[in-house]
Amino acid sequence: MKQQLETIEKKAREALAEVRESAELEALRVKFLGKKGELTAVLKKMGSLSPEERPQMGQLANQIRAHIEQEIETRKTELAAAALDMKLTAEAIDVTMPPKTVPIGHKHPMSIVLDEMKEIFIGMGYDVVDGPEVELESYNFTKLNTPAGHPARDRQDTFYTTEDDSVLLRTQTSPMQIRVMESRKPPIRIISPGRVYRKDEVDATHSPMFHQMEGLVIDKGITMADLKGALTQMVKLLYGEDSVVRFRPHHFPFTEPSCEVDVRCFKCCGEGEIEGHTCSTCHGEGWIEILGAGMVHPWVLEGCGIDPNEYSGFAFGCGVERMTMNRFAINDLRLIFENDTRFLEQF
Ligand code: DAH
Repeated sequence: MKQQLETIEKKAREALAEVRESAELEALRVKFLGKKGELTAVLKKMGSLSPEERPQMGQLANQIRAHIEQEIETRKTELAAAALDMKLTAEAIDVTMPPKTVPIGHKHPMSIVLDEMKEIFIGMGYDVVDGPEVELESYNFTKLNTPAGHPARDRQDTFYTTEDDSVLLRTQTSPMQIRVMESRKPPIRIISPGRVYRKDEVDATHSPMFHQMEGLVIDKGITMADLKGALTQMVKLLYGEDSVVRFRPHHFPFTEPSCEVDVRCFKCCGEGEIEGHTCSTCHGEGWIEILGAGMVHPWVLEGCGIDPNEYSGFAFGCGVERMTMNRFAINDLRLIFENDTRFLEQF
């Protein structure tokens, strides 16, 4: 019996050493020490022992029970400590580790400039209006005093979408002048930015899709002085108080008189050359053209039901890419459309 008891202790110790989870401990306690356990089974046979042996075996059995119980307690503490250890390691925070940076996007240079231009004109009381990119030929050309046969309507330059050329991708934002004059009564003060399309090959200064911003002011007594005032103000707010503008006579079918507006070249400061070399930004001109403008042609006003004897107005249209390139000294239009983050991150 002594041997049996010792075998139980040995088996119990071995089993306990194997345990990896505290839940298994209770099962082993039942297996060895429980009412139907191995130790109890041996003790049940005590009756067959001699009176001398009985207390000895009883004592031994109690010792073994105490050992096993103690071992169970020890293992329980060990397993709990190991579990805590694992948890702490798994959840450890290395405060010296560099943080993961979340890349935050920002405005495209075109959006920066467009927002600045909107801000400037909103400040002068203009509304911002949106218009269709797929436009009727009549709005893009005829109502802008550009009749059939006019070279601006050339199929080589314009994306017509119907066989009869009545629908097209607008080649300018100027049709918005007509849409606004037909739908609003003067006084009118609007700007209308958006995409325009021309059959251009892509190079450093051309793209088949680009952006324009149209402006239109109609009221009683509007003169060329108002045009010059508004556009000079725009240039100074956008490019700085010390920038210099020049108004040059030009021709557009829908304005009379018409002009183009130049800013003095920011690169060569109007010199046309830098250290004996022709300035690459203005090509030696000393000036950079930024927009077309003029007094709205009386025929155009009349066509929209506005009496040219009562009202007058001015209009302008500028290239947003051109404005952006000047604003940030960008030398190639393609950079604006390529979306190379190495370029975009610089703004
Ligand atoms: N639409 C013209 C262009 O694309 C620019 C322009 C010139 C707009 C004169 C105007 C204007 O409103 O009055 O070249």
